[in-house]
Amino acid sequence: MAVTAESRVDSSTNARVRVLQTKVEAASVELTSAIQTMNRLTPPPFNFHGWRVAIAGGSRGIGRAMALAFAAAGASVSVCARGEDALNEVAQTITKYGVTAHSQSCDLADPDAIGHWIKAAANTLGGIDVLVNNASGFGSGATDADWLANVNIDLMAAVRASREALPYLKRSSNAAILHISSIAAFHSYRERPAYAAIKAALNQYTTSQAHDLAEHRIRVNAVAPGAIDFPDGRWDRRKREDPQRYAATLAAIPFGRFGCPEDVAAVALFLASPLAGWITGQILCVDGGQLLGT
Ligand SMILES: NC(=O)c1ccc[n+]([C@@H]2O[C@H](COP(=O)([O-])OP(=O)(O)OC[C@H]3O[C@@H](n4cnc5c(N)ncnc54)[C@H](OP(=O)(O)O)[C@@H]3O)[C@@H](O)[C@H]2O)c1
Repeated sequence: MAVTAESRVDSSTNARVRVLQTKVEAASVELTSAIQTMNRLTPPPFNFHGWRVAIAGGSRGIGRAMALAFAAAGASVSVCARGEDALNEVAQTITKYGVTAHSQSCDLADPDAIGHWIKAAANTLGGIDVLVNNASGFGSGATDADWLANVNIDLMAAVRASREALPYLKRSSNAAILHISSIAAFHSYRERPAYAAIKAALNQYTTSQAHDLAEHRIRVNAVAPGAIDFPDGRWDRRKREDPQRYAATLAAIPFGRFGCPEDVAAVALFLASPLAGWITGQILCVDGGQLLGT
């Protein structure tokens, strides 16, 4: 068979694709092993027995991993989200740890719904010690709707849930608020300017809120994850729909794998725990060094 310029280009492209596939497969094996390690390690260093934790957006992904990690460490947990099926699944899984589970369908874009969820959570759990604001509007473009999705969920839902939870947090001797931000707040993000800008606003709110609530001994911190991959999550979908983008992102993570929800959950538990009792107003990146190369 004659070797044409075209067939040489094809074979070199195929070779590059094979190299990328091998790297993605190797990273996937490492990610699975990291999840197994984190699942073994997450509960033991922490003791949250008797604590009450409310997680806004706790039915999937990072929120679900935090809910299960807190429950595994002994906390009673309330989760809200819009979809009932995933909420029921996570609530049932929480009860397997022998703790109280509360779940309520709630659209965090609706201020009244936030108030109802927080009150129901506090009534069921007997108070609230830790509030985690995890949901995102994930506005992906530059339209008003994209901006408002992020303003309403990433920022205003966190402000409103904090305000509703404040009376309960003031009565706790272990009070903490945790916002889930993103490393996108620290670098330019051409495809998602609203997402990045509003996460940066959330980071700024974290510092002002921490200052404001210090007199009540309520600590406020944020976790800023890098790219986190989990089944049916955003990166899992991109792996199928835009494998080149997935591979390019993987290549930008110095530790050579995507993060897993359990990586973030472990840091959330640390920041909520008395081990972090002298930390407030901080934004902690959990990204395997991704920001270093961005
Ligand atoms: N995944 C990543 O790579 C990554 C990277 C950096 C930062 N983060 C941040 O980490 C957080 C969690 O990300 P994720 O990837 O785990 O998200 P996810 O898989 O989309 O899960 C988000 C959770 O929030 C709930 N939620 C979303 N919108 C809501 C609304 N309007 N009202 C009530 N609940 C709502 C979802 O349930 P329903 O849809 O059923 O309501 C779900 O339980 C977000 O703040 C995100 O910005 C993620």
